[in-house]
Amino acid sequence: MKKEIVRYDPSNPAHREAVRRIVYDTGFGGETVAPYFDNFDLFADMLTLYYTDYDASHNFLAMADGEIAGYLLGCPDTAACDSVTKREIYPALLRGIISGRYKLTPKDLLYIRRSLSAMIRGEHIATPTDVYPAHLHIDFLPQYRRAGLGSKIMLEYMDYLRGLGVKGVHLGTSSAHRSALPFYAKLGFSVYSRLRMSETVFAPLHPQDLYGIVCVKLL
Ligand SMILES: CC(C)(COP(=O)(O)OP(=O)(O)OC[C@H]1O[C@@H](n2cnc3c(N)ncnc32)[C@H](O)[C@@H]1OP(=O)(O)O)[C@@H](O)C(=O)NCCC(=O)NCCS
Repeated sequence: MKKEIVRYDPSNPAHREAVRRIVYDTGFGGETVAPYFDNFDLFADMLTLYYTDYDASHNFLAMADGEIAGYLLGCPDTAACDSVTKREIYPALLRGIISGRYKLTPKDLLYIRRSLSAMIRGEHIATPTDVYPAHLHIDFLPQYRRAGLGSKIMLEYMDYLRGLGVKGVHLGTSSAHRSALPFYAKLGFSVYSRLRMSETVFAPLHPQDLYGIVCVKLL
């Protein structure tokens, strides 16, 4: 298999569409979110809009024999991302829901209710963005996993961050993402914080206690 890491190109619609397709096909602990969420556009917008439409300059794609196998959505400045998300993205999503632009099914509403109730209960780990200002999201299609591409894209992103003078990076995962923790550990990340989640979108997949986990690494 020919393996290659390329920069995400915001002017290439195929790159944007692949990111949106992959997040939907892997968005439930590495498996498709389809049994739990129907609205493709809303799901992709919630998770990727910042990286594709607001600041698309720090993303990478992994290619396997010319096909897009996975992505790394990067952000060197989490505070800027949080601010745009609160000021522009959440209101745009809400307007889309209220206006009926996103047509929601009962499944979608249940997922949103679970996400919102976790937020209201404060089930969110605050990250030390002063020490670890960058973050990332990474997902690969199942057929391309365990071929070394995830490590390759992470190493390239971390080199890129060092080039920007960024001192540390963090990421969020959960105990339901079974491949993720050994993967991040091998790349030198350590667990910064764990928080038990009382009710989450992962509950049907993961009946035992579920933990949100933040991992960090100094660069
Ligand atoms: C997690 C993920 C990005 C890793 O990418 P990858 O290309 O599969 O990882 P690599 O092939 O580079 O693996 C590197 C090392 O990570 C560890 N690892 C990766 N997948 C693992 C798994 N399923 N179980 C145990 N260890 C694993 C191993 O130590 C592996 O080294 P080895 O193959 O020499 O033993 C990818 O599997 C994935 O997209 N998973 C589903 C979605 C997900 O969990 N995303 C992260 C959300 S926070």
